[in-house]
Amino acid sequence: MLEVHLLTLFPEAVESYLTASILGRAQKAGLLQVHVLDFRRFAAGKHKHVDDRPYGGGPGMVLKPEPIFSAVEWVESEFGPCHKILLTPSGTPFRQQLAHQFSQEPRLLLLCGRYEGFDERIRIGMEWIEISLGDFVLCGGELGALAVIEASARLLPGALGHEESAVFESFTNPQLLDHPHYTRPEVFRGMAVPDVLRSGHHQEVDRWRQERAMERTRARRPDLKPTQPTDKPLE
Ligand SMILES: C[S@@+](CC[C@H](N)C(=O)[O-])C[C@H]1O[C@@H](n2cnc3c(N)ncnc32)[C@H](O)[C@@H]1O
Repeated sequence: MLEVHLLTLFPEAVESYLTASILGRAQKAGLLQVHVLDFRRFAAGKHKHVDDRPYGGGPGMVLKPEPIFSAVEWVESEFGPCHKILLTPSGTPFRQQLAHQFSQEPRLLLLCGRYEGFDERIRIGMEWIEISLGDFVLCGGELGALAVIEASARLLPGALGHEESAVFESFTNPQLLDHPHYTRPEVFRGMAVPDVLRSGHHQEVDRWRQERAMERTRARRPDLKPTQPTDKPLE
């Protein structure tokens, strides 16, 4: 079972996504538990300020350390130590290998930023793995947190039905993209399903899929340096 604590200022932005489809099913099946926590609850004073102006001047507001430290400490004292993930454009790009690693943790905590981001003491005063969704800037960490939760949870044994298997897909071998897929009809607008896929010859089908996966990876992602398709499964 994977337990996740998602710390955000906008719980309503994540709640419906978390209850739909595979994430909802995984929670109902007891494979996944997600607790969404609005860290504004831990801000002091009548106005519950979670942000303030930056030292040194400049535009925007910065997330204050006190409410975030209090929220994280509360979660860890109530539930136990967490593998802590901070969403930031300056983090390590999120990859399938990290999803595998996270899916094997008992408890994750994801912290979503907003505004100009975090007071630096939040980063340095606690132990985080800093994760980026990519080289672009979003308004908040919520989409990144949902991506991390979904990519990790779908790898939990039993989370996907047979028809949604995660055994053979892009990055199962970290150096390989998926092969093309076809379904009915046999011919659509003059485009036919390759003969080999209708041949019933399993070895030929496997070979065709491996070759197409290699071809596609070389063409689209030469940086992955594709080698043999099945020689490097994820640990
Ligand atoms: C507007 S952004 C802050 C950007 C920050 N000033 C910078 O330039 O790196 C507000 C929050 O959105 C989240 N965020 C934005 N882009 C992200 C990305 N590419 N990956 C992960 N989180 C992101 C982070 O939590 C960040 O603290």
